[in-house]
Amino acid sequence: MASSSIIKTIPLMAIPNFNVCHKLELLKEEGKSGDPKHQEGEGKEEEVQSYEFQEMLESLPKERGWRTRYLYLFQGFWCQSKEIQAIMSFQKHFKSLQNDVVLATIPKSGTTWLKALTFTVLNRHRFDPVSSTTDHPLLTSNPHDLVPFFEYKLYANGDVPDLSGLASPRTFATHVPFGSLKDSIEEPGVKVVYFCRNPFDTFISSWHYINNIKSEAVSPVSLEEGFDLYYRGVIGFGPFWEHMLGYWKESLRTPEKVLFLRYEDLKQDMESNLKKLASFLDVPFTEEEEQKGVVHSISDLCSFENLKKLEVNKSSKSIKNFENRHLFRKGEVSDWVNYLSPPQAERLSALVDDKLGGYGLTFRYN
Ligand code: A3P
Repeated sequence: MASSSIIKTIPLMAIPNFNVCHKLELLKEEGKSGDPKHQEGEGKEEEVQSYEFQEMLESLPKERGWRTRYLYLFQGFWCQSKEIQAIMSFQKHFKSLQNDVVLATIPKSGTTWLKALTFTVLNRHRFDPVSSTTDHPLLTSNPHDLVPFFEYKLYANGDVPDLSGLASPRTFATHVPFGSLKDSIEEPGVKVVYFCRNPFDTFISSWHYINNIKSEAVSPVSLEEGFDLYYRGVIGFGPFWEHMLGYWKESLRTPEKVLFLRYEDLKQDMESNLKKLASFLDVPFTEEEEQKGVVHSISDLCSFENLKKLEVNKSSKSIKNFENRHLFRKGEVSDWVNYLSPPQAERLSALVDDKLGGYGLTFRYN
């Protein structure tokens, strides 16, 4: 998963290491029953699929995709066919263990930041964020290499990874909504951290990112078209309101299992939110650590400015073939004001009130 040059420069234990055991049965059969079918035109991501999978895909409602030709409505949320393969394999084969940590987000809500912070908090006794100037794994590895996604790394292509060698607490990430995750994390002691960003900035961040990384075979999504799709809920892992509500409700129902954090809160008050995160993960900061400046050092190490300037985040690729540099754009709250027209902002605001207002889930936009 990580290139050998990266493995040489950082302690081997830091990068989760696993082998693929086998493939999801549904996908293993490909090519056996005659001409295998191909995934819809997705440029480089095109791949042979079994007839069974193709048939299942064709039975799903579909819409124009943002970065691939189609998004499919699978288990009540929109996603690409490759993601469906991975999610099916994950749901069938992943076995949670006590102490597992799962970081959950809808894309472009600050997943990379949350991965960096959680990795650093959990591993601070192995990799000291205060004294480490050159040897902290974050300085040479993108956060996505340190905390793997279920659907883009571990179970991608229907693979079934061997996770037996991972150190505890195993730390994973996912974009799937809570309803599609819950059966996989039933083991007592599994903890989920959900990172939520206001829907306005999440939309603008998604729009930029997707147009930067999309396949050449797919035409660019204009801001107007993207807005209409987003408004209708048609975006990867959306509708956004259902994604947020699923984790929000669960965080209220089982606060010891699901922690709900907000991007804007971390921007405003990193210290108390980092303490909240560490306590939730059962590794609270001691007084001695606080006096030593550990909380500050973690905040600095994981800051947008610091991560963006690192060579690994300027020139490498960590998720599929996408360049890491696109993961660090502006990192601000309220950039949406530079893009959305007043009528668009009003419509989105009314939608957010309508869908989320009744549940006490509120956002700060500046
Ligand atoms: P913008 O496009 O608004 O700049 P994700 O990690 O879920 O893909 O989200 C990406 C968004 O988080 C981008 O937002 C990116 O700039 C921002 N981001 C990445 N690292 C960050 C950090 N360390 N602190 C704050 N924001 C960060």
